[in-house]
Amino acid sequence: MSFTFSDENLKQIEELKKRYPSVEALNLPLLWMAQYQDGFISLDAIDEISKITTIPPMEVYRVATFYTMFKLEKPKKLLVSVCKTLSCKLCGSDEILEHLKTKDVEIEHVECLGSCGTSPVMQIEDIYYEELTPTKVDEILKELS
Ligand code: FES
Repeated sequence: MSFTFSDENLKQIEELKKRYPSVEALNLPLLWMAQYQDGFISLDAIDEISKITTIPPMEVYRVATFYTMFKLEKPKKLLVSVCKTLSCKLCGSDEILEHLKTKDVEIEHVECLGSCGTSPVMQIEDIYYEELTPTKVDEILKELS
């Protein structure tokens, strides 16, 4: 399986090259682009980023594995990231997690999503779902199916 950035992404990359002072600074946005394009970051995408940035593939890989928001495997099911940090825990994230375990989704525990005032919170792709209850989770998953 090979990876090539889409024409639109290649245009964006050319714009980013003008904006960033070093190739190292391009690494993160290119990893994001690869993930948005395919839903995960393949080893072929890492090789492609390495070619574009001239950063060694192992260094690109090291950055990709450091940040938990980068996915190096395609999720098999809908990936639901549930905040497990204090505010969410105090407001019922354990109940949300237990409820989600009964659903056909892949659950990921994450640290504070930065939306503590609307706890408990979960994230699916780029969307935050806040002030969750089991009923609200059901409605969200039904809407997404
Ligand atoms: S503790 Fe959950 S969003 Fe901050």
